[in-house]
Amino acid sequence: MKKINLVLITIFLVMQLWSVENNLPVPPLLEGDNLNLSINEGVLTLPFGSSRTMGFNGNYLGPTIRVNNSDYVKLNIENTLKENTTVHWHGLHVPAEFDGGPHQIIESGDTWNPEITIDQKAATLWYHPHLMGKTAEHVYNGLAGMFYIEDDYSKSLDIPQEYGVNDFPIILQDRRINNNGEFRYNPSMHDYMQGYVGNMMLTNGAVSPELNIPGGTYRFRLLNGSNSSIFRVQFSDKREFTVIASDGGFLPESVEQSSIIISPGERYEILVDLKTAEEVNLTTDIYGGDTYKTMEIKTSEESGKYFNHPGSFIYEKVAYNMNSDRQRNFRMETRGMGGFSINGKRMDINRIDFTLPSDSTEIWTITNVRTGMMQIPHSFHVHDVQFSIISFNGQKPGPLRSGPKDTILLMPGDEVVIALRFEDYTGIYMYHCHFLEHEDLGMMGQFLIE
Ligand code: C2O
Ligand code: CU
Repeated sequence: MKKINLVLITIFLVMQLWSVENNLPVPPLLEGDNLNLSINEGVLTLPFGSSRTMGFNGNYLGPTIRVNNSDYVKLNIENTLKENTTVHWHGLHVPAEFDGGPHQIIESGDTWNPEITIDQKAATLWYHPHLMGKTAEHVYNGLAGMFYIEDDYSKSLDIPQEYGVNDFPIILQDRRINNNGEFRYNPSMHDYMQGYVGNMMLTNGAVSPELNIPGGTYRFRLLNGSNSSIFRVQFSDKREFTVIASDGGFLPESVEQSSIIISPGERYEILVDLKTAEEVNLTTDIYGGDTYKTMEIKTSEESGKYFNHPGSFIYEKVAYNMNSDRQRNFRMETRGMGGFSINGKRMDINRIDFTLPSDSTEIWTITNVRTGMMQIPHSFHVHDVQFSIISFNGQKPGPLRSGPKDTILLMPGDEVVIALRFEDYTGIYMYHCHFLEHEDLGMMGQFLIE
């Protein structure tokens, strides 16, 4: 009798385990003019174990902040960690004192209260820590979230915009997870050079989650939230999708793709049509690494809403004058072990690398200098602005690089020329490689707007 009971209990438990759902986690929305974020330690449970993590208002990642252009927003950010950190609004046009870079330290136990008037077009931005030498570790442990800006134009468009219904944030991160589910940040020198590459993918903090939805047109807002991995994202059947936006908002012309390359910190928004009763996976190839099933999409017999994919959007490029004397060069170099530099210098928090006047337009040429054996990709990210790309390797930029950008990938030997407009605010801002291990090793500089 006892034995039969045990068998029954075992069968029951196994069935329970099988029925554990692994649905795509959708971060809660955080809206309004008073936003509370608590930075805390957490535990992320995975199907095969768990890991100590960090999160905003939860165990891992953070809520999706959603604001409208011209909103006045007060944030209350409490650091309950046992260590210092910062919170930076990646892609946001923001006064330097509220940028959340390495100068705005939130000490353990303290709160930080930025007050921001949103002054930019609809875009999918994100937020994450930016403490000197600690950015990679804090982001890796889970401190990241989406930051959406909407405006009258974005709301007037006939595109999917119901959050968690037909408009989903998709935060892609590779993590190095052991058999117990633990992923502790513990880089070797090799990891600093080549990036802290994972052996598994997390999608919104879950391993290969399922998305069960009716057939219809879906908008996925893709963020590469990894430390240093370049992703190629596509559907398992190589179906086409329409890219409608890059880092800082809508593209002038949407573009059909069957795959897209996203480097750390970059965002792209895509529209994809899914028929009723079909199954398709979203997959991610890590550049120089493996292929992962990022998400299993299953549509029901039901039919949801279908949308036409828009062809073009309003986008005003940064206006520039090629003959202007406001030009700068940035040489991103790799010299030996961990010798990452920009213009031969490594980040020094006590040094301002250059100063520029407010209300100015500049042209920057950025090169990933090919040096000997060291062929390492880098990216270039600037705080406070969205830039326009003038040329990429001497050519007119293709459609994916023709919209507003704040981060651009440079493979060894690549050269990009960008136009940037600085206005409204003064103070100290950062520019750096967004491969977080490189940033922490000093591939960063700071400029002062006066
Ligand atoms: Cu996403 Cu300076 O960072
Ligand atoms: Cu780099």
